[in-house]
Amino acid sequence: MEDAFDLLGSPYVVKDDGLAAGKGVVVTDDRDAALKHAWACLDKPDGRVVIEAFLDGPEVSLFCVCDGWRAVALEPAQDFKRVGDDDAGPNTGGMGAYSPLPWAPEGLADDLVARVAQPVLDEMRSRGTPFVGTLFIGLALTSRGPRVIEFNARFGDPETQVVLARLLTPLGGLLLAAAQGRLEDVPRLRWSPQSAVTVVVAADNYPGTPRTGDPISGLAEVEEVATAYVLHAGTALDGEGTLVSSGGRVLSVVALGDTLAQARNRAYAAVDLVDLPGSHHRTDIALKAARGQITV
Ligand code: GLY
Repeated sequence: MEDAFDLLGSPYVVKDDGLAAGKGVVVTDDRDAALKHAWACLDKPDGRVVIEAFLDGPEVSLFCVCDGWRAVALEPAQDFKRVGDDDAGPNTGGMGAYSPLPWAPEGLADDLVARVAQPVLDEMRSRGTPFVGTLFIGLALTSRGPRVIEFNARFGDPETQVVLARLLTPLGGLLLAAAQGRLEDVPRLRWSPQSAVTVVVAADNYPGTPRTGDPISGLAEVEEVATAYVLHAGTALDGEGTLVSSGGRVLSVVALGDTLAQARNRAYAAVDLVDLPGSHHRTDIALKAARGQITV
């Protein structure tokens, strides 16, 4: 354990590797406190502890469309996983996202393909399991360089909403080329220079068991806000043809703008027009980025 602390350095991240009612993680500069928590985890019946590196930079989501040999990166996005403003409260599937990332280093996507996606593809091919599909890389840009948090073999939600809102190259052709092993022939993707922001409108009690069956109105008004539109997720028509909520993340409002500030102003103007009893949404999607408060 001491070796892991020495290797990873401070601040120490010590996690109870079991159910702990959200209280299993200690993040601290105090080595004694870190050790104490680690031993407390190990002292439980079947106790196990995980010691992780502290990731001190902003998170990035990068989707790479892959044909087994090559990876074509879409533009990076950032999502907001906690339910509340300022990253308060429990984790969710994602409460909003924006793209592009004005604070990202030049050439970030190409760099991540070279350092992460291509080695993954090379390794999978060499094991006889070439990967064809979307490699979703969730990572943090830390002061020690990029650190992968997770891989998924799918597009991510809600990041996809803002990435595809800006993709000018037809997606179908890109996916067909990936499926046919022809990504080498695909010209560089074309992107709108505009920024995109999406804000998720969630049901009462989400991310706990969401209340469903609430009527949704105001969606026609959303379309009157420049560039704004609604994407449905947890919605349904009831027996009388009324649009009602049927899931936790009920819908998203996407908007574009010449600047990130304009995109978020439009998205939030549109969100304010949606009426869903008991619903909630974050009010700070893309706020720090629009204010230039994110640094790598
Ligand atoms: N937004 C994160 C995910 O799709 O997993």
